[in-house]
Amino acid sequence: MTRIGILTGGGDCPGLNAVIRAVVRSGIDVHGFSAYGFVNGWAGAMSGEGFELTHERTAGILPRGGTILGTSRTNPFRQDDGPERIAGTLQSQSIDCLVAIGGEDTLGVAQRLSGEGVAVVGVPKTIDNDLAATDYTFGFHTAVQIATDAIDRLHTTAESHHRVIVVEVMGRHAGWIAAYSGMAGGADAILVPERPFDIDEVCARLTRRHASGRTFSIVVVSEGAAPVGGALSGREETDAFGHARLGGIAVALEGEIESRTGYETRMTILGHVQRGGTPTAYDRVLATRFGVKAAEAVGEGAFGQMVALRGTEIVRVELAEALRAPKLLDPDVYGSAEVFFG
Ligand code: F6P
Repeated sequence: MTRIGILTGGGDCPGLNAVIRAVVRSGIDVHGFSAYGFVNGWAGAMSGEGFELTHERTAGILPRGGTILGTSRTNPFRQDDGPERIAGTLQSQSIDCLVAIGGEDTLGVAQRLSGEGVAVVGVPKTIDNDLAATDYTFGFHTAVQIATDAIDRLHTTAESHHRVIVVEVMGRHAGWIAAYSGMAGGADAILVPERPFDIDEVCARLTRRHASGRTFSIVVVSEGAAPVGGALSGREETDAFGHARLGGIAVALEGEIESRTGYETRMTILGHVQRGGTPTAYDRVLATRFGVKAAEAVGEGAFGQMVALRGTEIVRVELAEALRAPKLLDPDVYGSAEVFFG
């Protein structure tokens, strides 16, 4: 009987539990597999810590945010014997293959392990939607909905107080959440990592808008956005995959916009609110379809591959294709949002 190890790595994301449930249920019911869940991403795969995943353990988790397995940003390739420990765990637990649910970092580890002979299937996860080879990752739609709801609320208070409100959303390399929530929420400016902004131009735009009679504005900014010529703010700490801890550009923008335009300005950083809570119906469906197809990929021995959404179909792609470069914001999407600026 095939035995699968399942893990969730990197930042958590609404829909992780839906994937776990789908892999386990279809693994057991359709393919006759058994499943073991490693806790806290690659940390559990190294230590062997985890628990049996059964119908009972996965009952009622479809709408639950977070991950019942826990997660971490552990990089086994940063540890002397990380990959050997994983190989040891798989052997001692009689695990034939892994289903790794994660973003570029978790799947990057999966790809390297696959190169070393470990049987792995990837499932694409990130609220940032910046993973290549799939049209959407699960979690993105939920994050956009949360950000849009927040922008709607900020609109009414911005209007009442005649203020500029800067809303910071997640998005390290790519401005997908900013562009989608900004467009859905009717933002007056959207600043994304792909397009370094000129603060003079942003302020000139706001000034033109206010001169034409509007008394408030909403500016949506990705945490990874930066002005032409460098960052407004930055932190030194990096995680095990070398990523700087982001967050806070809205603080700098609040001060810059207020001092340059004279308009009273406030900022809100949505942060991890965007990753919490129940997934939208869209994400529950996408996560479930990914999970079912990941179990199917295991059944067919399609290792070194990732399930992906192409149009309306769930397909398989090489992990290498997904990891070649981040999927940046489509300029055409930004162009449509830009029509409504200022
Ligand atoms: O998962 C990606 C992401 O949401 C980025 O947008 C953000 O920079 C990062 O996670 C924050 O992660 P952490 O939970 O480590 O603060």
